[in-house]
Amino acid sequence: MAVAVYPGSFDPVTLGHQDIIERSSKIMDKVIVGVLKNNSKSPLFSVQERVNMLKSVTGHLPNIEILAFDGLLVDFVRNCRADVIVRGLRAITDFEYELQMSQTNRVISPGIDTIFLTTNLKYSYLSSSIVKEIAMYQGDISAFVAPEIAVKVLSRAEDVKNGRPAR
Ligand code: PNS
Repeated sequence: MAVAVYPGSFDPVTLGHQDIIERSSKIMDKVIVGVLKNNSKSPLFSVQERVNMLKSVTGHLPNIEILAFDGLLVDFVRNCRADVIVRGLRAITDFEYELQMSQTNRVISPGIDTIFLTTNLKYSYLSSSIVKEIAMYQGDISAFVAPEIAVKVLSRAEDVKNGRPAR
């Protein structure tokens, strides 16, 4: 059984992420989406909120599991008994960082390879950071995230702008 881990911050999950999840779910027997509890990045959403949002947009896919992880990605991959890491490549600007990560991961854990899916052209410009920036000005983010995610992002952005703490 071919198992992949698709890791990321997913703060929030975008239509670009969803596209990679759907396509990798067709290639692999099982895909575990690993949500990083990244303390350094001060995310807009807690890890549990990000996990729940991912669950809500992938509920129709039977071979997807959403899990939070902390620490090294290669340790998480090993604990999941997965074979490969999946990452999306949007443009040449992603390449250097992705190459560095995949090479480093293979040096520290030689059995673990990374496969890349080129992002759907429709989403090649898209990132969670751009979505958050537009949401901070209450702009229209409906072309970038699922409707239920848009509601949450706009509401959280409004809270942040008004100095209200995350619920
Ligand atoms: O969505 P992102 O923020 O681009 O995802 C980055 C992620 C989570 C894949 C990366 O930061 C990661 O793997 N973090 C876990 C810590 C780790 O293993 N670092 C070494 C990677 S070279």
